[in-house]
Parts: sequence; C-alpha cells; structure tokens
Amino acid sequence: MTLDPRTFFSTLEQRVNFTDEDKALLKSHADWGKLIAPDMSDAFYAYLERDEEMANMLHQSEERMQRLHKTFTDWFMEMFTGMDEWGVEYANRRWKIGLVHVRIGIGPQHVVPAMATVVQKVGQRLKNDNQPEELKDALGRICMIDLAFIEQAYVEVSSSAVLQETGWTEGLFKRLVATGANTIN
Ligand code: HEM
Repeated sequence: MTLDPRTFFSTLEQRVNFTDEDKALLKSHADWGKLIAPDMSDAFYAYLERDEEMANMLHQSEERMQRLHKTFTDWFMEMFTGMDEWGVEYANRRWKIGLVHVRIGIGPQHVVPAMATVVQKVGQRLKNDNQPEELKDALGRICMIDLAFIEQAYVEVSSSAVLQETGWTEGLFKRLVATGANTIN
C-alpha cells in the first residue's frame, strides 16, 4: 500500500482547515464527548438498522453487534482526545478502520450518509446541551477527515488489487480509468 496515513492526515488537515484551536476545543470537551458517546452509538446503529442491507451486515454474529457499540464509542471519543495529538497513532487507527470496512464490503454509498448522520445527531445534541457552535464546526471537520480515510482506503485497496493482479503500471491504470469514465454516461 502506497498511502502513508500520517502524510494523508496532514494533507486533509490542511484541506479542511482543522486548526490548533479546533483541537484545543475538542480536548476541552472530551468529558462531554464521553458522556454522549453511548447515545450517539445507539442513534448511529438505529440509523444503520433501518436499511436491510446494512442491518444484515451488522447481524452476521451476536458478538459483532456488541463489538461495534464498543468500537464506535471508542472512535467517537478519539475525535475529542486526538489519541496522540492527532499524530501517527491517530492516523494509523483511521487507516485501519478504513481497511476493516473495505474488507467487509462496506462502500462509499454506505459510509457517506452514515457519517452525515453522525454530524447531524451530534449537532442536535450540541444544541440541546448548549455547547458552543465552534465545537460543531471542529467536530464536522474531524468527521470529514475520518470519512476521507474510509473512502480513500476503498480506492487504494481496489486499485492496488488491480495493479497486483494485472501487473499494470499506475499510469496505465489511471489512463484506463479516465478513458473508462469518458465512455460511461
Ligand atoms: C461514519 C461511518 C462509520 C464509522 C465511523 C465506523 C466505525 C467503525 C469502527 C471504529 C469499527 C471497528 C474497526 C476495527 O475493528 O478496527 C467498525 C467496524 C465495522 N463497521 Fe463501521 N463505521 C462506519 C460506517 C459503517 C457502516 C455504514 C456500516 C454498514 C453496515 C458499518 C459496519 C461495520 C462492521 C460490520 C464492522 C466490523 C465489525 C466486526 O466484526 O468487528 N460501519 N466501524
């Protein structure tokens, strides 16, 4: 895999303008994040359960659902704590989350609206709990970074699988994708 998670994080950080002020604000609200994480997890899985295809993916085993509640609350809180100041550990964790989703066949069509749900639910809760508007913006930015990791994992894994299988160069692959896009209406 060619993607370096920390470098990718830095690119995204600049792209979405995730600032030191955002980080300080998130850290100072980590207790609130911890408090609401279980409710956010419930709301998130209630959303996924409404869709038959996603519900089937969730219920492949009883332990899976239990694991998911724990991994979701951990993930949610890590956005507030930043783990290692949003460094190598944070980036590697996000990359691994992306890879897990690719492996089980969860694609952009599932993940993008799911993350929109997180942003919406957290926005509602923030309002109810009288939390500052800037916290919503900071959370929105880190959610977009985390989303980009999951999406990028999908692209990286599929393209590197094609390259390995066919022996094509990256340049050739990109040209084929570009020409392919021209032929699809
Ligand atoms: C906002 C988007 C999402 C976030 C933040 C998220 C978060 C996570 C995390 C943190 C893990 C654990 C990864 C690990 O084991 O290292 C995970 C695994 C998983 N997620 Fe998601 N997820 C998202 C979207 C979805 C969607 C849309 C589905 C669709 C059903 C889904 C289903 C699963 C499943 C089945 C697993 C594997 C559980 C297991 O067997 O361990 N996730 N997710």
